[in-house]
Amino acid sequence: MPRERIELRSADEVARIRDACAIVRDVLAEVAEAVEPGVTTGEIDRLAEALTEARGAKPAFKGYHGYPAVLCISLNDEVVHGIPSPGRRLRSGDIVGLDFGVVYRGWFGDSAVTVPVGKISASARRLLDTTREALGAGIDAVRPDGRLGDVGAAVQRHVEAKGYSVVRDFVGHGIGRKLHEPPQVPNFGAPRSGPRLRPGMVLAIEPMVNAGGPDVRVLGDGWTAVTVDGSLSAHFEHTVAVTEDGPAVLTCS
Ligand code: MF3
Ligand code: CO
Repeated sequence: MPRERIELRSADEVARIRDACAIVRDVLAEVAEAVEPGVTTGEIDRLAEALTEARGAKPAFKGYHGYPAVLCISLNDEVVHGIPSPGRRLRSGDIVGLDFGVVYRGWFGDSAVTVPVGKISASARRLLDTTREALGAGIDAVRPDGRLGDVGAAVQRHVEAKGYSVVRDFVGHGIGRKLHEPPQVPNFGAPRSGPRLRPGMVLAIEPMVNAGGPDVRVLGDGWTAVTVDGSLSAHFEHTVAVTEDGPAVLTCS
């Protein structure tokens, strides 16, 4: 199979992606602040839509393969791609994944966080912390002379050391002119394998971590992915550029 070409962006192009990512970061921070017991996921989605419009950007997910909302909001055992709904009310103790992307002046940015609703259990807290740390470990593995497999290996190592599983059925991705570009960015694999990382590559790194086993299934709505064993799942994502000096996290700088 021919290897797909991975785009290399100029410093100026990376700056344009950074502009999109700044909007993603700001909107995601504001919608995360709105998460509290009693709020519906539909209300959070409407807030995200209004904030995106106010910034002059377009939501990247709405209409993507027919996806019906601005955010993906995934609660508890939902892994990714939960559809916001006016009938879905957050309760204290829930964990809520908020995944959000925009296109701004032709460039895409993508990020996700998982946040607590009210007071959560110590085990849920540990899952969130581990998943956030695993994203950090993946980002730290980005080196201009490294390989893509170093990223997945670093994520997997951190997650499995804590007794959790990385999801195999969904992966991160290149990003830039489209939401999803080559290469796929798995959260598992072998170090020193896969394509070489080069300055100018832009990757969305997005570990999905299950407290139990790695298996997921998609519900009858055609979108919502849940853990097969009913265990909790968390998801964090940043858009990251490979630079001569290492990773530049575009969705948090
Ligand atoms: N959240 C996915 C990602 O981070 C993309 C979701 S597109 C949607 O790559 F249409 F499913 F929302
Ligand atoms: Co993504």
